[in-house]
Amino acid sequence: MPLTPTAQILRTAERDGFAAGAFNVIQIEHAEAILAGARQAKAPVILQISENAVRYHGGLAPIAAASRAAARAADVPAALHLDHATSFELIREAAACGFGSVMYDGSRLPWAENVATTREITGWCHEQGLLVEAELGEIGGKDGAHTPGVRTDPGEAAAFVAATGVDALAVAVGSSHAMTVREATLDLPLIAALREAVPVPLVLHGSSGVPDSALAAAVAAGMRKVNISTHLNRLYTEAVREALAADPALVDPRRWLAPARDAVAAEVARLLDVLAPQIEDRTGART
Ligand code: G3H
Ligand code: ZN
Repeated sequence: MPLTPTAQILRTAERDGFAAGAFNVIQIEHAEAILAGARQAKAPVILQISENAVRYHGGLAPIAAASRAAARAADVPAALHLDHATSFELIREAAACGFGSVMYDGSRLPWAENVATTREITGWCHEQGLLVEAELGEIGGKDGAHTPGVRTDPGEAAAFVAATGVDALAVAVGSSHAMTVREATLDLPLIAALREAVPVPLVLHGSSGVPDSALAAAVAAGMRKVNISTHLNRLYTEAVREALAADPALVDPRRWLAPARDAVAAEVARLLDVLAPQIEDRTGART
């Protein structure tokens, strides 16, 4: 089936009160695993490729083409999203590669500059039919708005969305990127207040550090897109390590990548159940 626009998946999530799982692709095995997990959970899914992953590959087109082809061959609604982009050029390239959405990350810029750049990029993306996710500028911390302790102010968030026209907003509510233990505490009353104040879907970044119960509570409080990467990479790498340790004579990469891919698929299916527990038909067929 053709790629599903991210906007359509988020609309369904908003209507039915669940959160779309958005998982990062680094290798083609990630895309295959994420789609297999979504198929197992009968849930729509967002494949996202970050600017960092693009840098690793030395370009967007090959990994985007592979992800796109895998998504089109899958029998679940799947969207393609550019994650944490700071370069307008890369955003233009994503549009040319058929992405349904981009995250422009101006969170390290001062407020006025972030607003101006995000507004300009959003205007261009809307002309191309792309959904735009953005993030508020924040004071301090190399991890921008996702430094532990940083919180998004609901009034500022509403003003930012009004000034920029973005379609989804990443908010700081207690999570932090790249955690390898799932012990973050989310500010649930703040999520509820942001949902009241902000007219677009809320996005949780750094969700690897958030335990299942808090993910479910965040969804109940109004979170509509949940980004998870490190947690899956941890399982992926653990499975590789185990396979190599179990048979030091292994040479064929398929023998150690297959268990890693299977581990990620199973965890994606499980996480999608956490993010959309009450929805019977999560495939977006009714959208
Ligand atoms: O944009 C990607 C996510 O925020 C992933 O963060 O690696 O901490 O799960 P994570
Ligand atoms: Zn992120």
